[in-house]
Order: sequence, then structure tokens, then C-alpha cells
Amino acid sequence: MSSAVQPIVWARDHLRLLDQRLLPAEVRYLECRSPGDVADAIHAMAVRGAPAIGIAAAYGLVLALRADRDGFDAAEQMLAASRPTAVNLRWALERMRRQWASHRDIDALEAEAVAIQREDLEQNLRMGELGAALLPDRDARVLTHCNTGALATGGHGTALGVIRSAYAQGRISQVFNTETRPWLQGARLTAWELMQDGIPTRLLVDGAAAHLMHRQRIDWVIVGADRIAANGDTANKIGTYALALAARAHGARFMVVAPSGTFDLRCADGASIPIEERPDEELTMYRGEPVAPAGCRAFNPVFDVTPAHLIDAVVCERGVVLQPTADKLARLIG
Ligand code: MRU
Repeated sequence: MSSAVQPIVWARDHLRLLDQRLLPAEVRYLECRSPGDVADAIHAMAVRGAPAIGIAAAYGLVLALRADRDGFDAAEQMLAASRPTAVNLRWALERMRRQWASHRDIDALEAEAVAIQREDLEQNLRMGELGAALLPDRDARVLTHCNTGALATGGHGTALGVIRSAYAQGRISQVFNTETRPWLQGARLTAWELMQDGIPTRLLVDGAAAHLMHRQRIDWVIVGADRIAANGDTANKIGTYALALAARAHGARFMVVAPSGTFDLRCADGASIPIEERPDEELTMYRGEPVAPAGCRAFNPVFDVTPAHLIDAVVCERGVVLQPTADKLARLIG
């Protein structure tokens, strides 16, 4: 099972990106013809989700090299600067750099970008199986945050991929998904993907999650990741840390689902993960209308770090690590 909508479509002389800012009201594609177009689309959140921005950036490099065989460095720098937290972006650019350095062949570079996209789907299907096996055999009730589905990846999804696979196996009876302030990735995108697949979900405001866990049984909180440090500390959408604290307080287990490209063993722990902060207007305005007093300053970090000790399971295409530690993750990824 995976969503029929294709968020990233490679058309050889341009890249078509489903403009996720308009969903679910409108399905419209942006046409990116240069690495600058791709970097702008990533920065503006037209394409978002850690694996998806890595895939888009890889295609951005192909567009750059088609226009100028000496354009690798400049395009790489521009794409790398488009969003700071998701390490999949750097991971994809470095993989493309190795490919270009060894062959200096644009067709081979294009094939590498296509492989990154295809492999992401394969990894998600594998993680779906591995993560689903951790859930109860039936009647599981799970909570997820942000959007980690087909829209955020090469297909199927990470955390949402586990939910899709587990639902297909008959393990899940109810999904809950947060709306995910301020961009509403949960309300606009996750609810949309789940409903398209006929998976029962209930939408809640981010602030209702602790109340939900207090009043109702939640077996697992299942989230994706933008960067996992060497010790297992995990950066993900703002609010993930609060979910992990609430899960621990209420006996729900906490699962992080991410492909190997999301691990950054160069970051010793979460303190060294760069956290993106976005403009005040994302909080003080809604669709062009003010929702806060004129001149109100905001604090708008869009990711937070969940410490490893609050994580019960890390699911990667290479395997599952329970109660992550630096040693266990080094054996998995190193
Ligand atoms: O700001 P976004 O929408 O790019 O944030 C996305 C997330 O935080 C996801 O949970 C993460 O990238 C994993 S997606 C498979």
C-alpha cells in the first residue's frame, strides 16, 4: 500500500515537484529547471520531509550539471544551504559528489539520483515490515506526528510506512495524528494520505497529545527523523520531544523510523544538531491575516531533539535497535 500521488517526478530536463503548501485543497506541480528553482522549493517548503528534500536536491545537481559541467560546487552549496536540519540533504549531495568525482558523466549522475529515489522507497518498505513487527498483533492504537508518508519520501513513508504496513497486516485499529503547528503537515498531509488509504485516523491539536495518552490507551508513538546523532538523540519536527516525554509518562512506547541516510555519526549528540528557526510570520500570521498583535515577536524553531533515553526503538532498513546507545548505533550504521 502506498499513496498514488507522486510528489517528485523527474522529467529529465526539469523536475516536477508537487507543491505541498497547497495540499489538500489543490494538486499542482512546480516545474524546477535549475538548481536555484529546487533550492527555492526546498526552502519555501513546497517539497519537505527529510528524504524528499535529499531526493529533490540530487535531481537539482543533475539540472546544474546539464547547464554547466563546472557547476557542481556552486549548485551543491546552494542546495545544501536551503534547509539546515535534515541531514538527508547533505547525505544525498555527498553521494552525488562521489558519483560525479568518479565518472564525471552526467548520465551516470542522473542514474544516481534516480537510484536514490528508488532505494528510498525500497528502504521504506523494509522499515515498514520491521517496524510493524514491533506492534501488537491486533488492535494497536498509535499516534504519529508531522507527515512522514509518501509525500515526505520516495514512497510509502518512514513512520507512516510502518503504520501503512502494520494496518495492512491487521495490527492497527486506530491511528491518531497531530495537526503539527504551524505548517499543519499532519492535518493537511498525513490525514490526507491516511484517508486515501482508508486507514482510520483522528486528528488532534498538538497540545491534546498528553491528554489523549492520559485518557486513552496509546501503544506506540511512531515518528520519523531529520537527523539521528551518534548517541541516538533524534531531531524531528517541533513537538516530537514533548510527545516522547508524554509517552514515557503514560506508558506508551516511542519508535523512531528513519533510513540510514538520516544518521549522522559526525554529530556526537543532539546538542550539535543545527535546529532550523523560521520567520516570526509563520506564527503571527495565518494565510495573510494577523493572528497576534502587530509587532509581536515569536520563537519559531521547527525541529527539536528527543534524547535517546526516551526512545524505545529505532527502525532503519538495516535493522531495529531497541533502547539506542552509541555502541548499538555504531554497529548498525558504522
Ligand atoms: O519541516 P518538514 O515538514 O520538512 O519536517 C518533516 C519532519 O519533521 C519529518 O518527521 C521528517 O522529515 C521525517 S520524514 C520521513
